[in-house]
Amino acid sequence: MSEQGNRLRAYISGTGSAVPERVLTNSELERIVDTSDEWIMERSGIKTRYIGGSEMATSDLCVKAAARALESARVAPEDVDMLIVGTVTPDQPLPSTGCIIQERMGLKNAFAFDIAAACTAFIYGITIADSFIRTGMCRKILVIGAEMLSRITNWEDRTTCVLFGDGAGAALLEPCEGPRGIVSTFLRSDGSLQDYLYIPAGGSRRPHNAETLRKHMHAIRMSGNSVFKHAVRAMGDAAQRVLDDAGIASSDLDLFIPHQANLRIIKATAARIKVPMDKVYVNLDRYGNTSAASVPIALDEASRTGRLKEGNLVEMVAFGGGFTWGAVLVRW
Ligand code: ACO
Repeated sequence: MSEQGNRLRAYISGTGSAVPERVLTNSELERIVDTSDEWIMERSGIKTRYIGGSEMATSDLCVKAAARALESARVAPEDVDMLIVGTVTPDQPLPSTGCIIQERMGLKNAFAFDIAAACTAFIYGITIADSFIRTGMCRKILVIGAEMLSRITNWEDRTTCVLFGDGAGAALLEPCEGPRGIVSTFLRSDGSLQDYLYIPAGGSRRPHNAETLRKHMHAIRMSGNSVFKHAVRAMGDAAQRVLDDAGIASSDLDLFIPHQANLRIIKATAARIKVPMDKVYVNLDRYGNTSAASVPIALDEASRTGRLKEGNLVEMVAFGGGFTWGAVLVRW
């Protein structure tokens, strides 16, 4: 999907993000499982992550992040006509977290829904929003990526619990006809690789019972090494694909925002498309892997700290359970 042949496209007019207050350090994790600050830093690059308390739900973080996005875009809640929430940790199965947020924020002229694309959900959401704006069906679309992965983490499994964090990021998309906006997008999934990263129970196939809870079947299971290899290849390919579709060289990128899962994955992906690390946004040392929230939190930080300036070319790319992956190229 590229800009060719269609002048109307979406641009990101505002961003916002939110995390819980509580910071969980690697040293604290050393007291929970058999691990060390040194191992976590060396293998993942993560130092701290934010973890929500028992009173918090994903929508609480979403409402804060979305309010900041609307404020920065100077758009009133009643002017939003669509809300997409990417999450695998909804508040509850029914209604969607989107509908809960709609009610709480007064998005009374919108329709809202959730998408489940794991860590790639924000990229999926931006692409869906861009398509609705290009066809003229919607004019102001909120896209949120948010997770409380702490709720689906097995705190006795050192191979996963050191990696994840909670957070939310949001972006408002509006139509534009100038040079700004979404230049090209690419989405893919491969369900044949679902067993590398999954949650065994809690759905219609295997509803929860005492046994599933005792066996931690409500929590993420991951073959870290396999995910690692597929992530590098798929994110590299997706990142290159959107550049090729737009006829743009990677040397023209001002900023590259990859999904924040592992510093080694980020470095290997950047090397694949020949982007130097000084153009790569990295904040996973502070947030850990926040899945669908990782790219929009990084985008919001980059925008607010001036790392991203009007006219810059920024590319976002992600990879997650499913497997799902995709990339978006934006003229900021
Ligand atoms: N502390 C200490 N040792 C550990 C820990 C830990 N927290 N976790 C694993 N180890 C041990 C293992 O048991 C293993 O020991 P062994 O050699 O005696 O068997 C050793 O460390 C090496 O384990 P590997 O799994 O080979 O380590 P690797 O270098 O692959 O790093 C990691 C593991 C960090 C999980 C990495 O594979 C990774 O980041 N994978 C990708 C994760 C990812 O990108 N997920 C994205 C999607 S997440 C989502 O969608 C929600």
